[in-house]
Amino acid sequence: MRHLIDIKDLSIEEIDELIKVAKDIIAHPERYREKCKYKKLATLFFEPSTRTRLSFEAAMMELGGNVIGFSESSSSSAAKGESVADTTRVVGCYSDIIAMRHPKEGAPLVASLKSTVPIINAGDGGHNHPTQTLTDLLTISCEKGRLDNLTIGLCGDLKFGRTVHSLITAMVRYPNIKFVLISPDELKVPEYIKKEILEKNKIAYIETTDIEKYIGELDILYMTRVQKERFFNEEDYLRLKDYYILNKEKLREAKKDLCVMHPLPRVNEISTEIDSDPRACYFKQAGYGKYIRMALILKLLEID
Ligand code: NCD
Repeated sequence: MRHLIDIKDLSIEEIDELIKVAKDIIAHPERYREKCKYKKLATLFFEPSTRTRLSFEAAMMELGGNVIGFSESSSSSAAKGESVADTTRVVGCYSDIIAMRHPKEGAPLVASLKSTVPIINAGDGGHNHPTQTLTDLLTISCEKGRLDNLTIGLCGDLKFGRTVHSLITAMVRYPNIKFVLISPDELKVPEYIKKEILEKNKIAYIETTDIEKYIGELDILYMTRVQKERFFNEEDYLRLKDYYILNKEKLREAKKDLCVMHPLPRVNEISTEIDSDPRACYFKQAGYGKYIRMALILKLLEID
C-alpha cells in the first residue's frame, strides 16, 4: 500500500504519469466517471481549507465515488482527546482512502504508520503540501509546456509556506532549474531546505528582498500569503503581511510569457488588477488541482 506524505514519495516517472493521466481526464472526463464507484474518500481536516478539501471531494465525486469526513477538529473525536493515529485507524474501517490536513508537522506520517488505507498529506503545519505541488507541476506543464529550463521566483513567506517547501523539493529533480527566493529577512527559506535540497543538488539560487530587481528574469513567479497562523506574535505578522504586493507597476519589467502562480488563498499580496492580466494563472491553477487529485486517487487505489 502506498501513501503520499512527501512529494519525494513519488519518482519523477510517477509524477510524469500522474500529469499524463490528469491531462487525459481533462480531455476525456467521461472515461473516468465510474472508476471509483462504491469507493469512499475520507477528508480529515484538522485545519481550515477551501480548495484542498473541496477539490479532493469534487475529484472523488467525478470518479463516481463518495465522500465522508470532517472539516474542523472541533467536530471530531480529537476534541475528546483521541490521537491522530487512533482516529485514522477507525476511519480506515469506513473508507478506502484518507486525505488529512493537520496543524502539526508530521501528523499524516504518524497516521500512515498504523493506517490500513492509503493516507494523503493535504498539508502538515509549516512543513509540506505534496498535493499542492502536484497541482503546481500540472499547472506549469500545461501553461509553460515543460518542467525543465525554468527560472522560478518564489515570493513572500518562504519560511512557513509549506507549498514552497514541497515545490522546491520537487523542482530540483528537473534539469536546469534556477530559483530566485524573494522574501523579507525574517521569512527566508529554512536552512534545512537550502542545505539538504538546494545545495546538495547543486541548484543555482539567489536570495533577495528585492522583487523588482529580478522580476524580468523569471519564467514563473510563485506568490505566497504570509502565514498568519504560524506566527508567534501578531506584531511581526502586521509588520510583514504587506511586504510584497504584486501590481501592474511591478509587472512592467516582467516577461510577456511569465506565469504568475499562487496556491491561494490570496490576502493582499496580489492586487486584483492583475487578475485580468493574461499572465495571471492562479485561478486556473486551482482548477488543475481537481484533475491531478483525481489522477492521484486512481493511482493510490491502484485503479487503471
Ligand atoms: C495553501 C496551504 O494550505 O498551505 N493553500 C492551499 O492549500 N491551496 C497556502 C496557504 O494557505 O497560504
